[in-house]
Amino acid sequence: MHRITREKLPHHIAVIMDGNGRWAKKNLLNRIMGHKKGAESVHLVVKTCRELGIQYLTLYAFSIENWQRPKNEIRALSSLLEEYLRLELQEMKETGIKLITIGDTDRLPKTVRDALSDAIEETSENSGMVLNLALSYGGRDEIVDAVKRILRDSKSTDIDENTITKDFFSNYLHTANIPDPDLLIRTSGEYRLSNFLLWQLAYTELYFIDVLWPDFSRDDLIKAITDYQQRERRFGLISDQLSEN
Ligand code: IPE
Ligand code: IPE
Ligand code: MG
Repeated sequence: MHRITREKLPHHIAVIMDGNGRWAKKNLLNRIMGHKKGAESVHLVVKTCRELGIQYLTLYAFSIENWQRPKNEIRALSSLLEEYLRLELQEMKETGIKLITIGDTDRLPKTVRDALSDAIEETSENSGMVLNLALSYGGRDEIVDAVKRILRDSKSTDIDENTITKDFFSNYLHTANIPDPDLLIRTSGEYRLSNFLLWQLAYTELYFIDVLWPDFSRDDLIKAITDYQQRERRFGLISDQLSEN
C-alpha cells in the first residue's frame, strides 16, 4: 500500500503517455486499438489527479514528430481525441477541470480544433485542476517560436538585451503562467524526453516506469507520487541549507 502525504503533493504532473502501439502488438491487436485503450488510461489519470487535488496535469498526447506517422494512424488519433473531448466535456465541467493546450494546434484538423475550442471555452471558468494537452507539440519548436515572437515584439516595443531574463523568456513559451512540472512520468520503459518541455523540465523529478500506457493504473500513479514525495529536491543547494528555511 502506498500512502500519499498531503503536504508534499506535486503541484504539476506531466506525463509522456507511451506504449500504446506495443500494448496492441502484445495483445495481437492493431495499433489503433492500443490508442483506444490508452484513452481509458487518460480518463483514469485525469480523474485520479483531480481527486488527489493536483493543480496542473500536462499530458503529451501528440508530438510534432508524430506527424510523420502513417496517415491512417494520425487520422485515428484525431478522431479519438475529438471523441474524447466530446465525451469528457460534461465530466470536466462537473469536476471543475479547466482545459488548455500547448503546441501548434493550428495544424490539427478543423473538427478537432472545433471540439477543442468548445471544450476550452466551456471550461474556462473552472478552477479545480488545469488539464493541459500537448498537441502537435515540440519543445525545440516552442523555444524557436518564442525567439521569433520576441524579435517581432522588439520592433514595436522596448526590448533590449537587459529585458531578456529567464522569467521574461518563459512568458513567451506556450506554458506562460503555468508553473514548471514537479514530476514527469514516462511509461513504457523508454528513458528519453522526446522533445517534451525541454525548458520547463530543468528541475523536474523524473520517473520512468516499464508499464505500457494502456496498462497504467491508479496504483501506478500513486506509486509515482509517493516515490516523488520521498525525494529531496535540492535545486543545487546542499541538504543542510534546505532545512534552514
Ligand atoms: C504513445 O504510444 C501515443 C502516441 C505517441 C500518440 P505509441 O503510439 O508511441 O506506442 P509505441 O511507442 O509505438 O508502443
Ligand atoms: C512521445 O512518444 C510522444 C507522445 C507520447 C505523444 P513517441 O513514441 O512519439 O516517442 P519516441 O519516438 O519513441 O521517442
Ligand atoms: Mg512511442
